[in-house]
Amino acid sequence: MKKITKWVAYSIIVLVLIAIIVSSYIVLALPNVGKPEVIKIALTPQRIARGAYLANHVDMCMDCHSERDWSKPIGPVTADKLGAGGDIFDAGAG
Ligand code: HEC
Repeated sequence: MKKITKWVAYSIIVLVLIAIIVSSYIVLALPNVGKPEVIKIALTPQRIARGAYLANHVDMCMDCHSERDWSKPIGPVTADKLGAGGDIFDAGAG
């Protein structure tokens, strides 16, 4: 067998072994958590207020999900654009 053919054959064998090991790990070692539960959450004013607090003050969701004026220092949220969609994370971001 030519050297290149041997090299290709060994590479294929190694890739197949890696695929078997990875899929065995996923099937055998990771826990089976079953299908996701279907849950329904009641929208109470308290939950909405808690969500607003988390989104605006704790998790800072609105920092990214609002239109911001980057011509000003620290890019404040543009008036009336809170949660209206925000930064585009592409090469021009910054
Ligand atoms: C650091 C910036 C940043 C923060 C902070 C942030 N997000 Fe996002 N979020 C993004 C970006 C960027 C995307 C779009 C990702 C994509 O489409 O690839 C996104 C997408 C989403 C989506 C849409 C997902 C989808 O599949 O369409 C939801 C919902 C969302 N964010 C909720 C939140 C919530 C809730 C929080 C706060 C807990 C939060 N985000 C905080 C940047 C952020």
